Amino acid sequence: MDSELDFATIQAVIENSSTKVEALIESYLDKKEQLISLLQDIQSEFNYIPGDTLVKISQKLDIPLSQVFSVATFFQSFSLKPRGRHTITVCLGTACHVRGGQRLVDKIGRDYNLKPGETTQDERFTLETANCLGCCALGPVVVVDGKYESQVSPDKLDKVLKKYE
Ligand code: FES
Repeated sequence: MDSELDFATIQAVIENSSTKVEALIESYLDKKEQLISLLQDIQSEFNYIPGDTLVKISQKLDIPLSQVFSVATFFQSFSLKPRGRHTITVCLGTACHVRGGQRLVDKIGRDYNLKPGETTQDERFTLETANCLGCCALGPVVVVDGKYESQVSPDKLDKVLKKYE
C-alpha cells in the first residue's frame, strides 16, 4: 500500500468535507433560526455531526455554542459520533427480550465486536437497541436501515446482515 497516496487521499477527503461544511453553514447565514435544518443537512451529508462543526456554526451564525450543542444533543436523530453506513436496531422490549432479543445483541457483539451505541471500525454498522418497536407479536424484531425483520433467529440475523456486507 502506498502510504503517500493514502495520506494525500485522506487530506483530500478532509479538505472536501471541510469545504462542504463551510458551504452548508454559508447557506444558512441569513436564516440562523433554522439551526435544526442546518444540523439535519450536515447529519445527512456526513451521517454524523463532526464536533468542530458545532464550533464553526456557533462562530459563523453567531449562536452561542451552548445553544448549538444543546440542540445537537437533544434530538436522537443527531449523532456527534461517526455512524456506520447501516444502522442495526435490536428491540429489547419485554416481548422481544423473552424471545431472544438479547441473544441477538450478544451475537452481533461477538461477530462484529460491537456493543450498543458503537460503530464498527470499518464504519459499516452502528448498533442500537430499542425498548419497543410497536410490533411485539413479531418479535424478536431487528430493524436494519428502517427495514423491519420479524422473528429473527441467530441464523436469520446472519442472512440479513450478510446482505449489507
Ligand atoms: S417489545 Fe419488541 S416490538 Fe415491542
